[in-house]
Amino acid sequence: MSRGYFITFEGGEGTGKSTQCQLLAESLRLKGKEVVVTREPGGTDGAELIRALLVSGDINRWSGVTEALLLNAARVDHWDKVISPALNRGAWVICDRFADSTIAYQGYGRGLNINFLWELHNSVLPGIHPDLTLVFDLDPEIGITRALARRTSEVRFEKMDLDFHRRMRNGYLEIAKNNPQRCRIIDARQGIEEIHSDIKRLLEVTP
Ligand code: TMP
Repeated sequence: MSRGYFITFEGGEGTGKSTQCQLLAESLRLKGKEVVVTREPGGTDGAELIRALLVSGDINRWSGVTEALLLNAARVDHWDKVISPALNRGAWVICDRFADSTIAYQGYGRGLNINFLWELHNSVLPGIHPDLTLVFDLDPEIGITRALARRTSEVRFEKMDLDFHRRMRNGYLEIAKNNPQRCRIIDARQGIEEIHSDIKRLLEVTP
């Protein structure tokens, strides 16, 4: 049995990536693939509990370092119990956010040292990276308006100031530039169907 394929969807708030995760999963299933759709922070019972701590409450509830440690704790549980077993049995894993989110949000956004964050990642999940990362790029002013119109809970990060979101967006573009083999940028200003077609086209050539 060959190893599966690990795709992550990344980007700021309200970029439409969660919808696209579901659409891609449906089209891969139609081709007969086993697909696991999951998300971070979360994806296991324990990691969902950690998620609840991170995404709700006051903006200043946690420092950037505490967030990074909680996120990595959740990620290891998620990797060990869901992602790794699925890849080992040959499934496709579509994950809504992964380690790049920590680099973009806690690193570029919150100002933690990027090397420290990669060292932390490589200490707890050595050499573990997605096969493909789709970075959804959108002006954060549009994205945050969309995200806040959609939900009123789990908005701790959405409430952070616009400069935080601008730094985070630039961080994602930087990550994509530094990892050209793994990352592709998706123009999230497009409509749902156009983005879905772009992604399917990418996958015809990427795997
Ligand atoms: P979601 O809104 O995409 O479900 O993600 C939950 C929030 O958690 C989102 O605002 C981004 C934030 N987050 C981080 O700050 N760092 C991370 O590493 C991850 C995975 C998410």
